[in-house]
This record gives sequence, C-alpha cells and structure tokens, in this order.
Amino acid sequence: MPIEMRSKKINSLKVITSLKEMQKICLNLRKTDSKKISLIPTMGALHDGHLGLIKKAKKKKSTIIVTIFVNPKQFNDKKDLVKYPKTFVQDLDKLERMDVDYLFAPRTKDIYPDDFQTKVVVKNLKNHLCGLSRDGHFDGVTSVVLKIFNITLPDYAFFGEKDLQQLIIIRQMTKDLNLPIQIISHPIVREKDGLAMSSRNIRLSKKERTIAPFIYRGLVEAKKEFKKNNNRSASQVTKDLRQYLLKNNINKIEYIKIIDSSDISYPKRPSLKNYIVIAVQIGSIRLIDNLKL
Ligand code: PAJ
Repeated sequence: MPIEMRSKKINSLKVITSLKEMQKICLNLRKTDSKKISLIPTMGALHDGHLGLIKKAKKKKSTIIVTIFVNPKQFNDKKDLVKYPKTFVQDLDKLERMDVDYLFAPRTKDIYPDDFQTKVVVKNLKNHLCGLSRDGHFDGVTSVVLKIFNITLPDYAFFGEKDLQQLIIIRQMTKDLNLPIQIISHPIVREKDGLAMSSRNIRLSKKERTIAPFIYRGLVEAKKEFKKNNNRSASQVTKDLRQYLLKNNINKIEYIKIIDSSDISYPKRPSLKNYIVIAVQIGSIRLIDNLKL
C-alpha cells in the first residue's frame, strides 16, 4: 500500500493500517457511540459478493469496518498467494462509494510479528470438504478472524454463504469461545450467468470463463431433479451431477457432497434443508459453490 494511504482520511472513509490505532478507535466507539459495530473481513479484490455483505451491514445502521488483509497463513499453495489479485485503488473507490466508515488494511508484519506463535483450531469441522485438500487453511482463517475480531470488537460480523464451510467453522469458533459477536450470513452473489462471484474469477481464461457457469447450472439441475423426486439418495444426486459436469468439460472435480450444514455430516437420504457443495478446478483455478436443495 502506498505510504500516503496510511491512516489518511479519504472523504468519509478512514483508512487505518495500525493495529493499535484501529483497536483504540473501536474501544472508543464502544464507549462513546451508541451505534453498533459491523465488521466485514475480506482479502480485497472486492466484487459484488463483498459489496452484498456491506449492503446487508448497512441495514443495521451501524459503524461499518471493512478489512482487507491477504492472509498468508490460509494459503496452503504459495503460488496461489503470490497470484492472489490485488486491486487496492479500485477497492478504495468501491468502499468510498458504499460510504463505509473504516477500512482496516494492516501489514503482514504487524499481524504476524516475528515472535507470533498462537493458532486457533476448530478441530473436527475442518477435516472435511475444502479442509481435506487445503492443509492448514482453516486454522489460518480462524486464527486471523479471531485476531481481527479482537482488534475491531464488532457486534456483528458478516460472512458469505459462498464459503459455506468457513461460515460453519466461524460460527462454531464464536460459540466455543463465547465471543459476544453475532455472525450474520449473506447468500451467494452471482454473475448474470450464474457463476458465483469470486476474486479468483478474473484469473480464468476466456475459454475457462465459458465453462465455469456449468458449475451452477449443474447445481440447479440437481436441485430440480431432487424436487421432482425427493426419494433420491445422496449418491444418486452427486453421481448425476458429476456426469453433468464431465459432459460440460469440467473434469477436475475435487468433491461433490450433500451436507447437513449444522455439523457437516453427510445424510444418505437428503432433505430440502441440506446443501449440495462442490469444489472443482478449471485450468489452474479452484472454484467452489453450493446450493440448498
Ligand atoms: P474473501 O474471499 O475476500 O471473502 C470475504 C467474504 O466475502 C467472505 O465472507 C466470503 O464468503 C464473502 N464472499 C465472497 N464471494 C462471495 C459471493 N459471491 N457471494 C457472497 N459472499 C461472498 O473469505 C475470505 O476472504 C477470508 O477467508 C477471510 C474471512 C477474510 C479471512 O482471511
């Protein structure tokens, strides 16, 4: 981040990089301001999915803090970290237009000083789905999210249903550690053709971008078939979806599962409250999506 951006006021948006300063502001807000604090943690490269969370937060008439921090500890693939899109100037513009109160954009060396040694682990829930291929990912997420919670002291924290496992794990951490924070979720925001918005989408080639919407189309198809006949077993539903994806040139399928989102168990006979969750790779880009049955 350019040095002149540090702790500088841009219209109504205040950009804070110092952890101490952010925490002091939040302690003060809690003491002197009757408004609640809403937090939206992100890794930047902001798109309409992120902005959907901010819009939802704005309905609370609270002080809005967005964080941008590309957290190295949640990247199991270092190449992915290097290639993670960074669009700081555009992000600032979007946050200003959304009338966000604070952008907290800390530096890596301040979040993780040399003597940093603590990890927050949600034991069981991470051993499923994305956690199986992304070693250490969810430990990285929970550790940084708890740190951001402790710095910004929010009343509400907003997370997207696109990262369903992340949402489930953060709810569990909040409950296990008695954090006085209400976790609020937001439905998946999609492109016009159904592709779930993701910061990684801009790394898809033209051809890959035309293939990617078949993930959502496949999910919709699977849901339609299940609605017609809700006696279908989980394995029938996932098998058909796999066939659909293969037919449409999506052949690197990491997982397709049907889960109960309360505990990430796998019902053999699904019901309408269950989710189909999916992770695939298109080219070198890993994409996830889900849909409630
Ligand atoms: P990031 O991928 O930037 O996402 C920030 C938040 O936006 C997450 O809660 C995510 O679920 C939500 N989000 C992303 N795309 C969305 C979409 N299409 N529709 C709805 N919500 C969407 O998730 C992270 O960052 C990080 O793991 C973080 C929580 C910030 C910790 O580092």
